[in-house]
Amino acid sequence: MKNTISSTNDPSLRVGVVGLGHWGPNHARHFSRLAQLTGICDSQAARLHKVRDLYPGSRCYQDFGEMLAECPLDAVVIATPTSSHEKLVTAALRAGKHVLCEKPLGLSSRLTRQLCAEARRNRRVLMVGHTFLFNPGIRYLRDTMANRKCGRIFYLHSKRTHYGLFRPDVSVVWDLASHDVAIFNFLLNTEPIEVSAVGHDWLRKGIQDLSFITLRYPGNVMAHVHVSWLDPKKEREIMVVGDKKMLVWQDMASPGPVFIYDRFVVKEPAVMREFGDFQLFPKEGDITIPKLNLEEPLLVQAREFLAAVRENRRPLSDGAFASRIVAVLEAIDQSMKARGKPIKLSRAGVR
Ligand SMILES: NC(=O)c1ccc[n+]([C@@H]2O[C@H](COP(=O)([O-])OP(=O)(O)OC[C@H]3O[C@@H](n4cnc5c(N)ncnc54)[C@H](O)[C@@H]3O)[C@@H](O)[C@H]2O)c1
Repeated sequence: MKNTISSTNDPSLRVGVVGLGHWGPNHARHFSRLAQLTGICDSQAARLHKVRDLYPGSRCYQDFGEMLAECPLDAVVIATPTSSHEKLVTAALRAGKHVLCEKPLGLSSRLTRQLCAEARRNRRVLMVGHTFLFNPGIRYLRDTMANRKCGRIFYLHSKRTHYGLFRPDVSVVWDLASHDVAIFNFLLNTEPIEVSAVGHDWLRKGIQDLSFITLRYPGNVMAHVHVSWLDPKKEREIMVVGDKKMLVWQDMASPGPVFIYDRFVVKEPAVMREFGDFQLFPKEGDITIPKLNLEEPLLVQAREFLAAVRENRRPLSDGAFASRIVAVLEAIDQSMKARGKPIKLSRAGVR
C-alpha cells in the first residue's frame, strides 16, 4: 500500500457534503478551503440551517437525490449514519461523482465489494474516511515498523473507550473498532487471518456497547482491541510490541503522542542447566518522544482525496481497503454471536 500522501488545493473541484450532524461539518470546513463547496445537504432542516450561514455560496438541500441531480458537483462527501452509506454511495457513483464516504463503508462486505466494482466501472474515486491512516502519530508508528526499527512484531494492542455517543444503527464494533482494524491493517500492511470476539449489549438489544476482540495476523502476530461506549475514561491508545522496541501512541498525550521504549529481551544460555536451556534478561534503555508535525488528520485526508481525483488514481484508504475492514467486522459479529468462536478470514474477491 502507498504510504505517501499527496497534497492539493483545487478550487476548480466542486464538492458537496451530505450529513451535517456531529462529523459532516468538519468535512464542510476543510472542503470549503481546499475546493469549492458547492452543495450541502441534510434531511433535517435544523441541521442544514445551522451550517448554511457559514457557506453562503453553497446551495442547500434536504434531499440527496435532488442535490445529485441539480447541484454542479464533481465529488461528494458522505457523512451520514453507516446504515445509509451503501445506498448513498451507489447513487453518487451512478450520478458520476467521486466519493469520499465516512467509515465504515457499509454493513455488508458483499455490497461494499459491489460499490468498489461500481466505482471502477464509472472510473470514479471511491475513498473511505479511515482517518487514522492520516494521523501523524499513527504514520510515525507505521514508518518505524516499516523500517524494521521495532524488529519482529510480537503483538499490538488498542484501547478506544469513552462514555456516551451511543449509535442507534451500529454497535461499538462498527463504530469504534473499525478504526482499530484499519490501523492494525495499515501498520502491519496485511490483514487478519482469524478473529474471535466477545461483547455485550446492555443498553440496546442487539447493539453491543462493549467488545473485546482478538485478531491473528500472518507471522504469529497477535492483536487485541478493547472498545466501549460505557467506560468512565476516554482513551485512545495503540501499543506495538516488537523484539527490538516497543511503541505507544496516545492521542492528545503531552508533549507528543508517540513514545518509543527501548526495551527488548536478551536470551542467554543458562548457567545451571536444570533451570532450562536459556535465561531471559529484560533490557531497558531510553524512552523517546519524537517531535511530530501534528496536522489535522481530516485535512490531510481531504487533500489525499482531491489529489486522487485530480490524478485519477486510487487513494490511500480506497474502497477495497475499506471493504476488507467490513469483512473483518462481519467476522467479529459472527464470533460474538457464537460467544467467541474463532472465525477464519479469507481475502477472496475483495481486491
Ligand atoms: N472518521 C472519524 O473519525 C469519524 C468520527 C465521527 C463520525 N464518523 C462517521 O461519520 C458518519 C456520521 O456520523 P455522525 O456522528 O456525524 O452522525 P450524526 O447522526 O451526528 O449525523 C448524521 C447526519 O446525517 C443526516 N442524514 C441521515 N440520513 C440522511 C440522508 N439520507 N440524506 C441527508 N442527510 C441524512 C442526519 O440528519 C444527521 O444530521 C458515521 O458513519 C460515523 O461512523 C467518523
